[in-house]
Amino acid sequence: MNELAPRPNNLDAFWMPFSNNRSYKGAPRLLTRAEGMFYYSNDNREILDGTAGLWCVNAGHGRREITEAIQRQAATMDFAPTFQMGHPIAFAAAAKVAERTPQGLDRVFFTNSGSESADTALKIALAYQRARGEAQRVRLIGRERGYHGVGFGGLSVGGIGANRKQFGALLPYVDHLPATHAPQHQAFSRGQPDYGAHFADALEALVALHGDTIAAVIVEPLAGSTGVLVPPKGYLERLRAICDKYDSLLIFDEVITGFGRLGTNFGAERLGVTPDIITMAKGLTNAAVPMGAVAVHDRIYRTIVDGAPEGIELFHGYTYSGHPLAAAAAIAACDLHVAEDLPGRARAIEPDFEDAAHALRGLPNVIDIRTMGLVAGIELSPRAGKPSDRAMRVFHRCFDTGVLIRTTGDIIALSPPLIVEKAHLDRLFGTLADAIRAEAA
Ligand SMILES: Cc1ncc(COP(=O)(O)O)c(C=O)c1O
Repeated sequence: MNELAPRPNNLDAFWMPFSNNRSYKGAPRLLTRAEGMFYYSNDNREILDGTAGLWCVNAGHGRREITEAIQRQAATMDFAPTFQMGHPIAFAAAAKVAERTPQGLDRVFFTNSGSESADTALKIALAYQRARGEAQRVRLIGRERGYHGVGFGGLSVGGIGANRKQFGALLPYVDHLPATHAPQHQAFSRGQPDYGAHFADALEALVALHGDTIAAVIVEPLAGSTGVLVPPKGYLERLRAICDKYDSLLIFDEVITGFGRLGTNFGAERLGVTPDIITMAKGLTNAAVPMGAVAVHDRIYRTIVDGAPEGIELFHGYTYSGHPLAAAAAIAACDLHVAEDLPGRARAIEPDFEDAAHALRGLPNVIDIRTMGLVAGIELSPRAGKPSDRAMRVFHRCFDTGVLIRTTGDIIALSPPLIVEKAHLDRLFGTLADAIRAEAA
């Protein structure tokens, strides 16, 4: 037993997020070390990371370049404010991020998480509409099965009932597009399904209802946390066109799809549609220090900043916006992405990943497989009267045999670090196949 690992009698204080605290603490699974493609558990077992932590360790674990950059920065200057002050490394990190975002989206606001990025993007959209004389545009449009974190803004535009129902009325003036998922027409598609561009037309109906009061539409270009929903061909193009037609902003939440996950710097590039605002977090620092960011089009920045009276232009920010340690990690992570062409690596191994995922078709209870980039969703039929149970049992079997997967409902979501190699894929999908079979036996 690793002596640093908490013993069962001191698991009480930590109220674990998005967890079944009662069952977990009865049978804890503890990770104590990580390197490359692997975690190591407190009983010193090697666990292949099939999920890049939580969709975030894109360059693999324990990258020396990132660790050393954080150490150097901690020793040089631990913290400095960015309210009416600055430190060079925050500016340098923003410039690095702007090199990777689509052309035009080169103004970067730093946050500490994906949730804060979503709320920041929504607030910037509202401030922008007001600054350009469209103060009636107060409405925010999200999508069913969308996930934009857990702040009140992101939660309100998000579309996961379970996440919302404990928390009251949430934001007013919010509406939702329908989800793009139609398994009867899309099941087992590789990449973007052919069916479903028309789901974007629901935005026309919302404009007919709400008129010129819509400030922004926010979607994940590829929805990850709600079970890997790949956008249908033509769907995002249509959303873009409708936003342009009615003068609303389009926000892509790229917290998962940013930093190489789809084989390009951002999903916008792979999917060929450029939004007005992109939110990001996770892979930005390779998850070594919490950090999020919002990249906005120069036009939006200039409208808010140049149009403001003398003084503070945007009354928004976090103590840790551009935190020196996070900025150091972001610069090092961006440099690693370039030096190792991580998006290119993801692109190169995508066909093997896709083939391995789709080879699970035909296993018992597998009702759909969806893939794009290095993301796969494998949907299992729910056990009668026990939704989520089947996938959770598969998760436990995989963990016990040395592979970390992620489940949401009865969907297994895979998103390995972008440094994954063929042998890792064989182990990941081999272990998963065995677990799915064993669960049906
Ligand atoms: C698309 C998307 N937005 C926002 C978030 C929230 O990020 P965080 O947990 O860092 O607040 C997530 C987290 O998975 C996400 O997938």
